[in-house]
Amino acid sequence: MPVVVDPDNETIETLLTTVPVGAHAIDQPDRLQAWLTNRPEEYVVVLGPQVELTAALALADSMRLSRPSTSVVLVRDEVDAMVMRDAMHAGVRDVVPLKDTDSVRAAVDRAYQLYLALRGPGGAMHQGRIVTVFSPKGGVGKTTVSVNLALALADKGARKVCVVDLDLAFGDVAITLQLFPSHTLEHAIGSEDAIDAPLLESLLTRHADSVMVLAAPSHPDVRERVTPMLVSRVLKGLRESFDYIVVDTAPAFDEQTLTALDETDECVIVATLDVPTLKNVKVALETLEMLDIARGHRHLLLNRADDQVGLGSDRVESILGMQIAGRVESSMDIAAATNAGRPIMSEDPKHPSSQALQDLALRLTGEPVAPDSAPGSGSSQQSQQDRKSGLFRRKR
Ligand SMILES: Nc1ncnc2c1ncn2[C@@H]1O[C@H](COP(=O)(O)OP(=O)(O)OP(=O)(O)O)[C@@H](O)[C@H]1O
Ligand SMILES: [Mg+2]
Repeated sequence: MPVVVDPDNETIETLLTTVPVGAHAIDQPDRLQAWLTNRPEEYVVVLGPQVELTAALALADSMRLSRPSTSVVLVRDEVDAMVMRDAMHAGVRDVVPLKDTDSVRAAVDRAYQLYLALRGPGGAMHQGRIVTVFSPKGGVGKTTVSVNLALALADKGARKVCVVDLDLAFGDVAITLQLFPSHTLEHAIGSEDAIDAPLLESLLTRHADSVMVLAAPSHPDVRERVTPMLVSRVLKGLRESFDYIVVDTAPAFDEQTLTALDETDECVIVATLDVPTLKNVKVALETLEMLDIARGHRHLLLNRADDQVGLGSDRVESILGMQIAGRVESSMDIAAATNAGRPIMSEDPKHPSSQALQDLALRLTGEPVAPDSAPGSGSSQQSQQDRKSGLFRRKR
């Protein structure tokens, strides 16, 4: 799928109307390189008019030999002979004016034809990974973790991430992100046999530029009509367009959640420091083991990990027979961010909770996230060292 780059959000909106649905948008040009590293099959980079010409030409020049199957299309407010000449020397495939949307569309189409020709028949299909955030208990922070983990995985545009709200009766991913979706999973009910990329795209709502949301139906009674087959086909379909699909779940092993768990590559289990939750998490872990779900790919996240309630991390690990993979402390900032509809990861990426979820993302991907360029980064020395030592390398 094309990737569109421009620091200006309005320009991105315009460009997105000219490229196939499912295109990715990056508003921080310096994240493009990370995106490309993760997407060897990317076929076109559309550089908008606000991307500085020298930087655009340098990029095209470096990609000319290193990634010949990825075309660079340069969009400018005005195209003159000088720009055209320099662009062609740098290996830009097309230079088109922003207002000529037909030309942008045609350039992207030509890039796709070239990609198909260079790739040859039977090129590998992209397969994103499914990360399910689960807990048998309500209110422990599943949605908070899902949304912030999705943003951490997106890594400011380096990866394409979708959050699927499978808390079908009371899902609140959309409201947590202040989104008002016109379409939800409800609109795919009955279309199990017709799930394809355009249909999936029509169900998604964009949050920021790099995270899409498949929202839960707006009425609880719709849940019963969401079949396991629909869930399975939707998740399989999303794998083809996204790098990571983060699934938020209801606090129960209902049939839709079990279907998602069946598809899951990485399972994040959220627990808090109270005995009823720990008892239920233990039963849930036994169930996952019995069903052979995500064995070796389960990650225990302790939320509100600093609550002074007489239970320590050691005790949790011994009760659950599992090491804690990440800890998020109780923080008013998290609750306030939820209430404001701006997740802590966007609001304050240097916040200890954001750092904890970035570390979890690192554990899931095995790749370091972008260093925070802002001064006074709160990133702990320990986590920097962990990144360097590759302590969190993925196991497979
Ligand atoms: N570490 C934390 N510190 C402070 N508040 C938190 C923390 N984690 C979650 N919260 C708050 O707790 C509330 C419940 O969190 P959340 O909705 O993420 O839980 P949930 O497990 O998804 O709940 P449900 O089972 O109802 O879907 C939210 O208001 C959220 O802002
Ligand atoms: Mg929730």
